[in-house]
Amino acid sequence: MRLLRLAFVVSVLFGLVAILIYIIGVADLYETHRLTEEDVEALHSLQTGFQKCVAANGLGLQAALGKDYCQVIMQFPADTIPKWKDIKTGELEGLSYEFDLCEAVATWEQVRNSTTILTREFIDSLPNGWEDYAWRRINKGDHLNRCKNKTLCVEKLSLVLPATPPYVPRMFRRCAVIGNSGDLLQTRFGKEIDGYDVVIRENGAPIQNYTEYVGKKCTFRLLNRGSAKALDKVVMLDESRKEALIIKTTIHDAMNQMIREIPIKNHVYLLLGASFGSAAKGTGLKALEFGLSICDSVDMYGFTVDPGYKEWTRYFSEARQGHTPLHGRAYYQMMECLGLIKIHSPIRADPNRVVQWVPERSLVTAARIASEKLLRRIGAGYVDPLRMCSIVKKQVNLKLTSFLSLRKAAINHQKYVKSATLYPLERSPRHGMLCTV
Ligand SMILES: *[C@@H]1O[C@H](CO)[C@@H](O)[C@H](O)[C@H]1NC(C)=O
Ligand SMILES: *[C@@H]1O[C@H](CO)[C@@H](O)[C@H](O)[C@H]1NC(C)=O
Ligand SMILES: *[C@@H]1O[C@H](CO)[C@@H](O)[C@H](O)[C@H]1NC(C)=O
Repeated sequence: MRLLRLAFVVSVLFGLVAILIYIIGVADLYETHRLTEEDVEALHSLQTGFQKCVAANGLGLQAALGKDYCQVIMQFPADTIPKWKDIKTGELEGLSYEFDLCEAVATWEQVRNSTTILTREFIDSLPNGWEDYAWRRINKGDHLNRCKNKTLCVEKLSLVLPATPPYVPRMFRRCAVIGNSGDLLQTRFGKEIDGYDVVIRENGAPIQNYTEYVGKKCTFRLLNRGSAKALDKVVMLDESRKEALIIKTTIHDAMNQMIREIPIKNHVYLLLGASFGSAAKGTGLKALEFGLSICDSVDMYGFTVDPGYKEWTRYFSEARQGHTPLHGRAYYQMMECLGLIKIHSPIRADPNRVVQWVPERSLVTAARIASEKLLRRIGAGYVDPLRMCSIVKKQVNLKLTSFLSLRKAAINHQKYVKSATLYPLERSPRHGMLCTV
């Protein structure tokens, strides 16, 4: 009987301890994720400033405030005539779009400190990186039996897989991303574009015969599946033969053969990227993401962002079927009003145009911290630069980039992250990162 009572007391004690541990655990979570008054204030300021920014710069777009401090509804004027129809549903594009500013500010600010080039150290550091990931970046990778023969996978990726990142955050100062929109022919942006430190172009965009409008310089070219297959033709577009080619999809045996045999001397890499959900798909966004991961500032040219477009055109070819232009316009305007990019277009042609009501850096930082807490992102509420790392791997090899040649801003950033590299992880629900230190 006594023994039974003792057992009962012990089990009750265990139960209490368990409850206590649970409460402390939850309290800890609750503490680091609890919004302070300053957090709420920051989100509120970001949202109200954002509304003014869209009204001042959006060429008719307006941002209505949504149900909380994060939600905004971007509305086109009621007399806007949508021209784009969804092929599947046959429906015309809508005139209002809901965006989550907290999600956007947390994710895009993370991009600024990320590496967006696929490297050997990334695959090696990823748990089961070769079995679960590498084959996805190889054309017909599903025939590779999850890279059971690793030698074969290494071989297929070898020409596009640097050991460590060739570029680091803030390596370049002013960058321009050039889309392929036909509206580039309305303004002679050529000289202005060539004045940037870095110019990022897309797919088979020609330079020759259009330099007056699009400039000559090309530092990087982002390629989708179709253009990557014509790698031999793409390298001919740049006379300097120095541009780095960055493939958004997969490496293909035919591309490997071209790189080896033609031979193609340009650097060729595969792109890694954050997931922005359905809000931000499509060409252009990936180029902006890449730009933001290596540049201090990113300016955008050649995207259809002015009202009154009649059709989707490219500056160098016939009109063609595009996708969701109004959605795109609204999203780019959001990016501009979060201080991520500056938009240049025929209606916004003045190079000295000041984007009014762009949030100060300090406000963006405060709002980003608050958003991380609200979204319960990994590491939210902590100040450690490596707080977002859900996988940390120690690496012994040295980085490719020589630190001596880096800009001061890039060196300062490397000091801040203690020379770690932060890679975005696909499908990571709380946006944890893979970090190599
Ligand atoms: C693995 O791939 C390499 C390179 O293609 C090849 O030489 C080797 O025979 C393959 N090994 C097996 C076990 O299939
Ligand atoms: C530029 O124009 C010349 C003469 O019309 C033409 O032969 C050449 O193919 C054009 N180049 C490109 C890249 O379109
Ligand atoms: C990115 O790095 C800078 C230092 O270069 C730091 O101030 C900022 O807080 C970092 N951003 C994020 C989202 O960690």
